[in-house]
Amino acid sequence: MSQMTVNDRPVQFDMAPDTPLLWALRDAANLTGTKYGCGNGDCGACMVIVDGAALRSCLITIAEAEGRFITTIEGLSRDRAHPVQQALVAEQAIQCGFCTPGIVMAAAALLQQNSAPGEAEIKAAVPNLCRCGVYPRLVRAIERAGRVARRQEKISAAPAPGISAEEAAREVPALRPVVRNGGA
Ligand code: FES
Ligand code: FES
Repeated sequence: MSQMTVNDRPVQFDMAPDTPLLWALRDAANLTGTKYGCGNGDCGACMVIVDGAALRSCLITIAEAEGRFITTIEGLSRDRAHPVQQALVAEQAIQCGFCTPGIVMAAAALLQQNSAPGEAEIKAAVPNLCRCGVYPRLVRAIERAGRVARRQEKISAAPAPGISAEEAAREVPALRPVVRNGGA
């Protein structure tokens, strides 16, 4: 049994201790916003924030996550209005969107440490792979997110396409307090 806090809720995973955190989040907790790309630590699609740092959840076991505070894309911002999310939409730095949750988490962790990162710092902290090649717009978006976080700019963008105002305002789904192997 591995216990941790996920999106501000206590969670226990009754799974093998060497289960990757990514598997537990997606398959047992149904937090499928965190994506499975390579499973090898190369792509960054599985990034979550662990105790304030962006980590690849495919490389951490649930035993290693014991007692730690995990934030997934579902828990980052209830109204999906985190500065990084606003800026990615405003700069149209999303195409298919598969890489986007991991990028959002890496960029959000960066801005928590440094709200005015330069291009080199952004590239170092957000090394995520994007098969659609949004990289130039991504750097612009994260620089802009920093300005929003520093309250130097306000983005008054419409919600992302396909997200109604009601859905944008919905509550983060409650996690079951005990998640058993196989999600039963
Ligand atoms: S799925 Fe974890 S880095 Fe690619
Ligand atoms: S937007 Fe398609 S993989 Fe990045």
